[in-house]
Parts: sequence; structure tokens; C-alpha cells
Amino acid sequence: MKEENTHILIGPFSQVLTMAELPETGPIADEQLQVLENVGVLVYEGRIMQVGNYDKLLQHATDSNYIFHKIDQPMVLLPGLIDAHTHICFAGSRANDYAMRVAGKSYLEIARSGGGILDSVRKTREATLVELVDLLKKRCDRHLSEGVTTCEVKSGYGLTTEEELKMLEAIQLVNKHHALELIPTCLAAHMRPPEHTDSRLYLQEVVTQLLPQVKEQGLANRVDIFIEETAFSEEESLEYLAAAKELGFEITVHADQFSTGGSRIAAEAGAVSADHLEASGEEEFALMREAGVVATVLPGASLGLGMHYAPARRMLDGGLCVAIATDWNPGSAPMGDLLLQAALLGASEKLTIAETLAGITVRAAKALNLTDRGIVAKGMQADLIAFPTDNYKEIFYQQGKLKPMQVWKRGREV
Ligand code: NIG
Ligand code: FE
Repeated sequence: MKEENTHILIGPFSQVLTMAELPETGPIADEQLQVLENVGVLVYEGRIMQVGNYDKLLQHATDSNYIFHKIDQPMVLLPGLIDAHTHICFAGSRANDYAMRVAGKSYLEIARSGGGILDSVRKTREATLVELVDLLKKRCDRHLSEGVTTCEVKSGYGLTTEEELKMLEAIQLVNKHHALELIPTCLAAHMRPPEHTDSRLYLQEVVTQLLPQVKEQGLANRVDIFIEETAFSEEESLEYLAAAKELGFEITVHADQFSTGGSRIAAEAGAVSADHLEASGEEEFALMREAGVVATVLPGASLGLGMHYAPARRMLDGGLCVAIATDWNPGSAPMGDLLLQAALLGASEKLTIAETLAGITVRAAKALNLTDRGIVAKGMQADLIAFPTDNYKEIFYQQGKLKPMQVWKRGREV
């Protein structure tokens, strides 16, 4: 009997945090969390059919088509985690950059001297498709085992039509066979490649040559750009994003990491999310709020660069929808541990447990414009994770060291 065609009853769980019926933007008090007790989840064809009292669900489970995933210790169930911003398709290490940074050079100085992102570009170009697939797959294995069931992955270390396509193909290949669901994003506008002297001409080439192929081959439906002094200017970014939108892509932006400006472009371009935002203030919050842009903060990059976190508390108080992602990349954020980073950010920024959890589940889904996950409720994808505890407050209290013991993707235990 194939599991996909069978009802699966999972439980009982001591607590289920559904993450349902929470405000889409702004602060969330822990009292607003829906915490259900002694709960079972009924799954059919990868989707949640019912969430309710375990004993009642058991009484109705008389059909021979039922499979039971009996949970026999105290466990807390959550929706699978969503990492809404990563660069995990890359080859090579940037340990040398790290050594230079801790010895006093800044991220931007290293970038200007040809290190940084361009170093990863060289190494990723040298890697074959098969090698990239293998590297990406290993990172996906780790993410999935730590409870991440959906993960955005950017290109951006190719920076030629051919090499960007190679990266996106590697992402597509892994996505076909891996239980971790990948959401690809074309970040050909990560940096001006060394072969080009004019960034505008490079972006034009991306628009006329690469993006149509990305669309045609179904390799991604999201486009990202890094707006910063060492990358692309506000003006050229706005032009580029308008062209990408015209081609039918959703927009996201690397904004306000070191200097402001990017979030304004995100708002003007109608981006789904603006990510980083370490340098953002009240003015930027207002622009993003009015344009309905999700603010995705990346604590891993702050940890890697030894700089302050994005002001997540003030963003929430300013009425924004805040998502939290790892930015897992070889340069500024090689750790890639979403739970741990969310816990550290929450402690420093004084986020409630509800706000932090929402940032890596339901609000992260919003950052990716996904409406079928991030919540444990009827009709949602059955992406679920269970922690070995009877109290959800233990999860961030243990600073990311308490990991999920069981993970289900579309109702299948992985
Ligand atoms: O999100 N800021 C630009 N891009 C990445 C870093 C990528 C890298 O350093 O390789 C980021 O931090
Ligand atoms: Fe990034």
C-alpha cells in the first residue's frame, strides 16, 4: 500500500502549535498562540485532513486504509520550518575571508579587493554540475534533519548566462529527488561579474538572455538583486526589477545591509520581501509597511560579520511582517542553523516566542508568497516537525540545541 494514498494518523502530541489565526503583521503575544493538547494529525495525500483530539480521531480510524504513526513520548508538534533566504548552492570555502575579517578587514574591503562573493564565483564556476548537485544535496540533508522542510535557494555565484543556468539546474535536480522542497531564485544580479565593466550592460544581458531562458525552462519564478555600493545602484536596480517583473517574475531584494536605499526600491518595485535590513530605520519601515513588503531579517549574516542584528523588535512594533532566515552562504553566514539563529535573535531583540516562531514558519511562508504551509491546519501541506519536550517554551530556551526528533514532509516521515 502506498503511503500517499492512505490516511495517516500521527500522534498523540502533548502540544501542537498550529500557528493559525495570528496577525499577519506587527507584534504577536504568546497568549495569541493556539496551543492544542493531546492532539493527533490526520494526513491524506500529503495534506492535513484534520487536527484534533487524538482519541476521537483514533475512534474514527477504523478503515483498513489507515496507517498509524504512534508517538510514544511527550512531543511538541510545529509546522515544518521555512528558510526563506539562502545561498546554499556553492562550491568552496571562504575561510580565508573569515581570517581577514577577524584580523580587521571589512566585508566590503575584502569584496573590493576581489575576494568575497567573487571568490565563490570562481570556485562555483570551476565546479561541475554533478559536483554542485552533490554539495547542495549534503546541505539539504542537514537542513531537513534540523526541521527545515522548505528552503529558498539563490543562484548568484555564476554571473554568466551559462553558469547561472548551471546553478539553477543543480537546484532543480536536487529539488526533484530531495524531500526538502527548494524554492529557486535567480540572483544573477548579485555582483557585476569581472568580465563586465558596465553593470547596466550586464543587467541588460541578464534581462534579454538569461531571464527568458529561466522562465522558459521553469527554473525559477523569483528574481533578486543585491543593492549596495559594491553591487548595484538604486537606479539600475529599479530598472532591472521592472524588467524582471514585466517578464513575470516575483521580486525580492537584498536591501539595507550596510546602507539604506534598497528597501525603498523594494517598495517601489512591489517586491514580496526585502531582506537583511540591518541599516533600516523608521523611514524604511514605513515604506515597506505601506507597500506590504515582508521584512526578512538574517541573523546569521550579523553573527558572521560581527555586526548588529536588523532591528526586528522595532520592525514589529512598526507594524511589519518579520520573517527570519539563515542567509546560509559561504561568506557571511556559513553556519546555516535556523533554529539556533532564531533563538539568538529572539533573545537579543526581545521577540516573543510567538514572533520568533512565526518568523520561521507562517511569516516565512509569506516572504515566499506560499499560502499552503507554515500552519498546522486542514488543507495545508503536511510538513511537520516534533520536538522531544512537553513544553514549547523549551525550544528557544535551549538556544537552538533542542532539535526536532521527527520530521514529516507531505506526511511522509523523513
Ligand atoms: O546575503 N549580501 C550579499 N549576499 C550574501 C552574501 C553572499 C556571500 O558573501 O557570498 C548575503 O549576505
Ligand atoms: Fe543573502
